[in-house]
Amino acid sequence: MTSDTRTSQGGATPSRGGVCVSLRALHQTFGAARVLDGIDIDVPAGTTTALLGPSGCGKSTLLKLLAGLLAPTGGEIRFDDTVVASACVCHAPERRSLGMVFQDYALWPHMSVAANVAFPLEMRGVKRAERAERVEDALSLVGLTGLGARRPQALSGGQQQRVALARAIVSAPRLLLFDEPLSNLDRDLRTRLCADIGALLARLGTTAVYVTHDREEAETLADQIVILAHGRVDKRITR
Ligand SMILES: Nc1ncnc2c1ncn2[C@@H]1O[C@H](COP(=O)(O)OP(=O)(O)O)[C@@H](O)[C@H]1O
Ligand SMILES: [Mg+2]
Repeated sequence: MTSDTRTSQGGATPSRGGVCVSLRALHQTFGAARVLDGIDIDVPAGTTTALLGPSGCGKSTLLKLLAGLLAPTGGEIRFDDTVVASACVCHAPERRSLGMVFQDYALWPHMSVAANVAFPLEMRGVKRAERAERVEDALSLVGLTGLGARRPQALSGGQQQRVALARAIVSAPRLLLFDEPLSNLDRDLRTRLCADIGALLARLGTTAVYVTHDREEAETLADQIVILAHGRVDKRITR
């Protein structure tokens, strides 16, 4: 199944088709600092793994390696049977069929909500009419129908993060990466959005890696929780 496969009855609703991710003996050093020290993790296709650990333990570094924003100093990352990163291979982010959601939303303030969400499709050369349809579908999936014409700054923090989520799923990626996406929101909003993200991931069947330092969040949406400490996997909890 390709990343752009579309369902018959759901219009442009992203289809199921997550990738199986495996990390083997993954190492990352920055100068003398050994940040990741032999990480082995399997993320089965269509499931969500939460990476849990205190600030500075290497969670964002691990996500950057998965995204292709950083090349590992040792070990390898496979997507299904393909090595996408090792000491001698590093596929660019655009070859990995990814969507990413960051803590600070990373929306473009000068563009409308719809234009923000459409951006990944524009980059792929998707035609205007199809783009509009897929943007509408993505906004509907995150509960923002009708808000496409607004500017991001005219929305609440929770709504802005929903826009970022819509932008991450609009191209039907095979892997979604989340870096502490709810940390800027207050408690109530966090709980609601966390449950909504969990439901959306289950519905889409996309593989996801979700970084957080909040155990409750991890327990709400993850099939597997991996606890990192001192650059290693300290504990694995399968649920
Ligand atoms: N590009 C870099 N150069 C040097 N050190 C880095 C770099 N990126 C991250 N680090 C260091 O790696 C460690 C882990 O960082 P990070 O992965 O951001 O942790 P977390 O996301 O768990 O808070 C920190 O000590 C950080 O300072
Ligand atoms: Mg981080």
